[in-house]
Amino acid sequence: MALDYSQKVMDHFINPRNVGEIPDADGVGEAGNPKCGDIMKIYLKVNPETKIIDDVKFKTFGCASAIASSSMATEMIKGRTIEDAWNLTNNAVAEALDGLPPIKMHCSVLAEEAIHTALNDYRAKNGMEVIPMEHHEE
Ligand code: FES
Repeated sequence: MALDYSQKVMDHFINPRNVGEIPDADGVGEAGNPKCGDIMKIYLKVNPETKIIDDVKFKTFGCASAIASSSMATEMIKGRTIEDAWNLTNNAVAEALDGLPPIKMHCSVLAEEAIHTALNDYRAKNGMEVIPMEHHEE
């Protein structure tokens, strides 16, 4: 049975924003789900003065929901501070996509985790304290 995807999920899957990589990224993070094997990588460019994320790109080897979640999540953290970006939850990403089918919620978790990993990579490289990662149950 085909899953019922929102128009926004389809739009971000077919025409994903911010795809690619940043060769001189200030922070890089990766998250994977061992159950489905999907992997998401996030690259951040952070303004050293303002701590605003000037640029963000992603590469996702995964399902439609994972690609749509990465696309939406990168749109949501671009132009925000690293603190704001940390507070982006997978639920907010799923909501911005007008919802994900329940069995696809874990795909949005990948986006939250990859962003957290990239932000911690940035923090570690800049002598800032690394924030403990929350692990989502599935
Ligand atoms: Fe695993 Fe979507 S099925 S990330």
